[in-house]
Amino acid sequence: MPNPFDPIPLRKQFPSLKLLVKDRPAVFFDGPGGTQTPQRVIDAMSQYLVQDNSNLGGAFITSQRTERIAAEARQAMADFFHAKRPEEIVFGQNMTSLTFAMSRAISRTWNPGDEIIVTWLDHDANITPWVLAARDRGVKTRWLEFQLEDCTLNLDRFTELLNEKTRLVAVTFASNAVGSIVDVAQVTKLAHQVGALVYVDAVHYTPHNPVDVQAIDCDFLVASAYKFFGPHTGVLYGKYEWLDSLEAYKVRPAPGRPPGKWETGTQSFESLAGVQAAIDYLESIGQEYGDGDVDRYDGRRLRLKRAMNAIKSYEENLSLHFLRQAVEVPGLQVHGITDVERLSERAPTFAVSLAGHTPRDVAQYLGDQGIFVWDGHYYAVAVMDKLGKLDSGGLVRIGFAHYNTEDEIQRLISALGELL
Ligand SMILES: Cc1ncc(COP(=O)(O)O)c(C=O)c1O
Repeated sequence: MPNPFDPIPLRKQFPSLKLLVKDRPAVFFDGPGGTQTPQRVIDAMSQYLVQDNSNLGGAFITSQRTERIAAEARQAMADFFHAKRPEEIVFGQNMTSLTFAMSRAISRTWNPGDEIIVTWLDHDANITPWVLAARDRGVKTRWLEFQLEDCTLNLDRFTELLNEKTRLVAVTFASNAVGSIVDVAQVTKLAHQVGALVYVDAVHYTPHNPVDVQAIDCDFLVASAYKFFGPHTGVLYGKYEWLDSLEAYKVRPAPGRPPGKWETGTQSFESLAGVQAAIDYLESIGQEYGDGDVDRYDGRRLRLKRAMNAIKSYEENLSLHFLRQAVEVPGLQVHGITDVERLSERAPTFAVSLAGHTPRDVAQYLGDQGIFVWDGHYYAVAVMDKLGKLDSGGLVRIGFAHYNTEDEIQRLISALGELL
């Protein structure tokens, strides 16, 4: 039997969580903008710079170590996402830069009259690269709306937009604003029926849930390590056939095959060491607290899936706790899914407004109390536009991670009560 999930020993591994504000421990509800990192990630990065710092392809030990570290990070990410092979993992500066590069390469295959689909639920990094590429190629962009009542995508509407002219569907796995999770496997199935590629933004989904690219069957999926307890670097999964056949914009000496052909210039190798350490950290959670999914995975893949299942159910409890308390705060409106029976359909990320207060005022007040939340649009400009919040300071975003606790939520609720 696994141990019940316990955030306290895990919190001890995160040195930043010791920060005090006005003599009280800081509360990090800012994870959707970037999570904190455990000591082992910090150690791995500094160890790389102290002992292994080099570049690829040299005839000496630090270069060989650098190659090994890059290869191990790639295998770790392949295991985390359950990719078929490590060559399907591409590292890059961040999700946005990877997506611009990919949109440039993929859109070369489009012709005037073709169509693509983007959604109102997405972060702008999975909208504008495609909209601009479509504009350059004379391709029509069609927009999938979300339902205002619960901020979820309507897949019936999706099938209406989809047709044999659709070349690509860019869709989020989970909204970084309102938390809604999208059934990307179903989106992929429908898109593939008309021959369209599917590009999934899993940046917000990855720290909260298990990801299995083979089960989804998407063509591309992108994430950012700094949202899953690692350093500031981006990760792209692509089906090998696409990474191999698409033409990359690259310099002549760069490798001609994946993944190297997509990795422009020199990677942040210290970040790759950190990515590997972040995956080690998650694996250790699977070892200690994980359960389930025994049939489909083994080895590290199994431990990682178990870790993310354990994190998911722990965070659902945090969401439950928050939603039950939130209804008691007068004037507090939570956007997105609030039905506690539907917690598996959302990430533990809540966009809220407080009557009589601007989002910045609320965030500032909480920040002064040492409770860190975001305010504004967090680049989810389409979401804020649709909710009518774009020109009025957006919304306050409260995001839980597995290192947060019910006590911290209690502090948040009390602070909101005091503000009122
Ligand atoms: C859902 C989502 N997609 C994309 C991005 C952009 O990621 P990056 O900062 O790695 O470019 C973010 C960053 O906040 C995000 O939350």
